[in-house]
Order: sequence, then structure tokens, then C-alpha cells
Amino acid sequence: MAGEISRRGLLTGMGGLVVGGAVGATAATALAADSGRATDASTVPASVPFRGAHQAGIATPAQARVELVALDVPQGTTPAAVAALMQQWTTAAEAMTSGDGEPADPSREIIASGPARLTVTVGFGPAFFDTLGLVDQRPEGLADIPAFTHDQLDPRWVGGDVLLQVGADDALVAAHAARRLVTAAAGTLTTRWWQRGFSRTPRSTDDTTTPRNLMGQVDGTANPQPGTDLFDDTVWAGEGVPPWLVGGSFVAVRRIRMFLDAWDELTLDQQERVIGRDKAVGAPLTGTAETDTPDMGAQNDNGSLVIPADAHIRLARPEAAQGARMFRRGFSYDDGTAPDGTADAGLLFLAWQADPRKGFLPVQARVTMGDRLNAFTAAVGSALFACPGGVGEGEYLAQRLFTG
Ligand code: HEM
Repeated sequence: MAGEISRRGLLTGMGGLVVGGAVGATAATALAADSGRATDASTVPASVPFRGAHQAGIATPAQARVELVALDVPQGTTPAAVAALMQQWTTAAEAMTSGDGEPADPSREIIASGPARLTVTVGFGPAFFDTLGLVDQRPEGLADIPAFTHDQLDPRWVGGDVLLQVGADDALVAAHAARRLVTAAAGTLTTRWWQRGFSRTPRSTDDTTTPRNLMGQVDGTANPQPGTDLFDDTVWAGEGVPPWLVGGSFVAVRRIRMFLDAWDELTLDQQERVIGRDKAVGAPLTGTAETDTPDMGAQNDNGSLVIPADAHIRLARPEAAQGARMFRRGFSYDDGTAPDGTADAGLLFLAWQADPRKGFLPVQARVTMGDRLNAFTAAVGSALFACPGGVGEGEYLAQRLFTG
């Protein structure tokens, strides 16, 4: 299976060792073999390379866990101090994502047991460039997201100067890696908010549909698929951006609370009409398979639209917003119950695109008007970040931003 390497492969094949990088050399793997626990069926998660043309954690299939941390740059901080932190983060992220762990990490075993597809992705918010005196490096389109009509924003989850997205298939690995990076930032940056999310754990079920959200819907079907020209054109910044952002991307982070108690009151038919897709397999209401193309003109016998006029997919599709597209790579969050006893849960909606003015912003403006889903959701957090291009060999994160 792609993304997995059998332990035996790691232990016996040089190719496996190279692909698995430091995973093959970990004490944990050796221990498993020594104790005779390694079998053909047992696998260790692969590592995701930290360096490349693009940052990892964007085209990477969503991991089971995500830690999203927004940090602020205190007034008076120098670009040199932030550049030094980016060098530290680069060293730490490379060591952790490879599975070696940082030599100085007192709990290195957590990572050395297998990096679980750990990725670290970094971005910068609008005010970052003001505070550091780097305004000429701020890309056009990087501005605070305006408040939309149905938003119920809580300042606890809004804005931020620096974004850290740490993903892994293991919750312990994600939590530890995020803590290491935040600890390294102490003295340079302050933590503004910290959000945790989850998606389907790979290999935990036989379900081969796109992952589901907490409303039970298959979510992510109409996304551009990584590896296609459409994905590359949609996601990676290139034209008209400063050199440090070439090969990077903008991410809109929205913490969207779901009113699950009200949602659960709906019949299945009502729920499906809110989205315009069937709930079981995610097929459009005009089709039978998840990947069927929705027929927006199809009518019922009584002349009404099969996919209702206020259905989410009718309003969110590119055709409804001047061709605007994004790549959605969201995670669920669940904080139990709110003080009023209702569910405090929802979606950490992450929309990636080359230009938010041709992606998230026009689509959000469109769905704000008349989307039935607005009755069951509200954004409580909101932020926009520009994430630098990939880290080349010998480079550190966002190096071109600091060295010109
Ligand atoms: C909690 C809030 C939301 C939920 C539960 C939700 C759920 C869904 C579901 C189930 C689909 C259909 C399957 C798919 O193609 O992924 C979908 C499609 C989509 N959603 Fe959302 N969504 C939410 C918020 C948003 C927001 C805020 C935006 C953008 C501003 C958005 C943009 C899209 C787009 C672009 C599509 C694909 C439309 C198409 O081309 O068919 N969604 N969403």
C-alpha cells in the first residue's frame, strides 16, 4: 500500500531503508525485530520529506491529527531574530519529520518510534510584515479576512502573525512536535491561539470514500486532486508574488462551529438537500457515485430543482463565483459541550489557494448569501496566512524573505 513500508522491507532492503530514511534505523524498529514481533503484515508509517519544491502538509493527504498554532511577533522584534528562529525550526522540523528526532530532545523516543507522516508547515499573517518592517515583502491579497454576515467570531480564534501547522497520523507525535517548535519560539514569538483537529485515521476502517466531517457528510469530493495541473494552478503561488512566496500558498483558516444539535433534528432527506449530495456515499442528488458530475439543471416532476437553489454545492462551486477555486484540507474539532449544553464542535476549515482573492474570499462571499448550510454553521475563528515556497537543500524556511 502506498505510504507504508513493511518492517521486513525496512530491515532487509536497502531501498526500503533509503525510502524510510531514519525510520529504518530507529531503536523501536530494531527492538521489534529483536523481539520477533515484526511480521510481513506489520508496517511502520513512512516519513514525508521536509524539503522540496513546496512545503509538506499541503498536498500531503490529510493526517489523522493536526495541531494549528498561531503566534505573534511582539513589537520591537527584529527580522534577524525571526530568521534565526526559522533556522531553528528548519533543523528541528527536518530532524523530527525524518524520524531521527532532535538530538537535544529529552523525549526523542516519541518521534523515533516512527514519525507517522509528520509534516510541519509555516505561514505568515498580514501584520507580520508591519511589525518586522518588511512591508515591501507583503504579498498583495494578504489582508485580514473581513467579517461575513453569519460569522460569530470570538477574538480567541482570530488572526495571528505566524502559523504553524503540524500534522501526523499519531496524536502523540503531532502534539510533541508542535510543543517542541512552540518551545523553540519562546523569547521570539508569543502564542496567540492553539487549535487541535482530527481526520480519519489511515487504515483504521475499510471506508474508501473521501473522509467525513462531524455532520456525517463525505467532505472533499470536488477538490482539485494533487498531482494534476488543476491542483498546481489552484494551490501554488507563482505570478505576481514576492520571490519568497513562489511555490508557496495562501491558507484561509476558519474555525466553523457546527450546530450539531439542530442538524440532528433534520431528516436525512433535509440534510441531503442542505448540501445537494447524498450522505451515504457523497453522490450528487442527481447521480449515484461520489464522483458523478452534479446536474444543476435537473428538475423533479413538480418542476423544482433536484439540487436546491440554496444547496451548498450549488453556491460553492467555481461556476457560482467567477471561477474561484481552492483546495479544502479540513479537520474536525470537538471540544465537548458549550456552557449552554450544546455541542462545541465543528470544522477546522483550511482552504489553500494561489491567491485568496480568486479562491476563498469570493466563494465565502457567495456562500454567505443564501446557503442553507448557514443555518447550521458559523465561523467562530478566522485568519489568513501566506505560506512560503518549499525549503530547498541547504536552505532554511522562508530564507528568501530574510535574505532578499
Ligand atoms: C462547516 C462548514 C462546511 C461544511 C460542513 C461543508 C461541507 C461540504 C460538503 C459535504 C461538500 C460536498 C462534498 C465536497 O465536494 O467536498 C462541500 C463542498 C464544497 N464546499 Fe463546503 N462545507 C463547509 C464550509 C465551506 C466553506 C466556508 C466554503 C468556502 C468558503 C466551502 C467551500 C466548498 C466548496 C468549494 C465545495 C465544492 C463545490 C463543488 O465544486 O461542487 N465549504 N462542502
